Amino acid sequence: MAKKQQAIQAIRGMHDILPEHSPRWHKVEAAIREVVDSYGYQEIRLPIVEKTELFKRSIGEVTDIVEKEMYTFDDRNGDSLTLRPEGTAGCLRACLEHGLLHNQVHRLWYCGPMFRHERPQKGRYRQFYQLGVETYGMAGPDIDAEMILLSERLWKKLGIRNKVELQLNSLGTSEERAAYREKLVDYFKAHLELLDDDSLRRLETNPLRILDSKNPDMKQLIAEAPELMDYLGEDSRNHFHALTATLDDLGVSYVLNSRLVRGLDYYGKTVFEWVTDELGAQGTICAGGRYDGLIEQLGGKTNHAIGFALGMERLLALVEMQADFKVDPMVDAYMIRVGTDAEKVGMRVAEQLRTELSGLKLQVHCGGGSFKSQFKKADKSGAEYAVIIGDEEAARGEVSLKPLRTGEEQQNMPVPELVGALKGWLARRNSRSAS
Ligand code: HAM
Repeated sequence: MAKKQQAIQAIRGMHDILPEHSPRWHKVEAAIREVVDSYGYQEIRLPIVEKTELFKRSIGEVTDIVEKEMYTFDDRNGDSLTLRPEGTAGCLRACLEHGLLHNQVHRLWYCGPMFRHERPQKGRYRQFYQLGVETYGMAGPDIDAEMILLSERLWKKLGIRNKVELQLNSLGTSEERAAYREKLVDYFKAHLELLDDDSLRRLETNPLRILDSKNPDMKQLIAEAPELMDYLGEDSRNHFHALTATLDDLGVSYVLNSRLVRGLDYYGKTVFEWVTDELGAQGTICAGGRYDGLIEQLGGKTNHAIGFALGMERLLALVEMQADFKVDPMVDAYMIRVGTDAEKVGMRVAEQLRTELSGLKLQVHCGGGSFKSQFKKADKSGAEYAVIIGDEEAARGEVSLKPLRTGEEQQNMPVPELVGALKGWLARRNSRSAS
């Protein structure tokens, strides 16, 4: 007897999105599309695998992502490739490669899986989905404000604006950061005994990241550290003030967070995060900022860029917490066919309904069975209606329509009348969901 094979399971931190969950994703994705369309953004679709060098050069050699979290492998040619840990680097690579940044302005978005070998926990996965928004060719601060307005509009559309807080900071220019870095290193060196191992390491490699430490023992030390804002030059200050003035003007609330430094090296000037305290430790649902300097770093001419990415799993978790979050049922009508003639006629009627009623979700029962067992399936499908055909109805050219959720009577009718009845119901439903 053949030995029973052990079932193979998914990789830790990489999840299936099962059919019962995909309607929730569709609902959030539809809201995203509506919002990005309303600001005139275009979709860009990018490869999932890029040359490893791209991420090293853009995210930074001494960041957690590049040091510890990338899925890197040699392909059959011996080239080092990496599953993208984020989308900004690939998006900019594509725009440079195709000459899109030459005297042009672009507003782009993408959505897809990213990969980081982090320790999995709730809200932190090894494969996760991001919506990314990237813009090129605009020096700001008006486009900086647009980034924030666009994301805020999405929160409002999804009913979660009161659950998220906008945190803002400016990282200034690379020269300003270098001057600040020196002051910060001096400050931490004067308190070496208070630094944990991670921070001692960062003191040599990336001291600004110490400000991001979650170690409660270092809270006080970090709170008293010098502030980057005090080292910004006039241009950076004006840029930041113009952004906050626009947000004030439009009534967008925010919190200034001078410790917001971000975990990727490519940022300068504006950085922001949308955070919530309803998701436990993984509370940042969206983050981004300006990365003008990266364009030259990847071989382009001086130019401007700002963008953000949001974690789809975190956003969904937040959206699903609302009591009134509902998705449309998968099926509007379920066709029950009992009898040889009924099966044949039913298939024809179903095709006619699909042709004449755009937007109708109709499932035809396949595989036979009694009226009773087919009704059970119809009920379980969540459909609003059962369309019933037995051999007698088939012979008369009729069908029965039974509302499954309202307790209304079942009615016999010829096929054209069925088309009319379902058309009326679809129109009523569409106008309800539009209002
Ligand atoms: P990031 O802060 O690394 O930025 O990621 C953005 C968002 O992706 C996070 O706020 C979080 O919601 C989600 N995220 C990150 N890692 C995970 C994970 N392991 N599991 C689940 N969700 C996660 C970027 O990726 C930049 N590319 C953002 C950007 C675009 N900046 C400019 N343009």
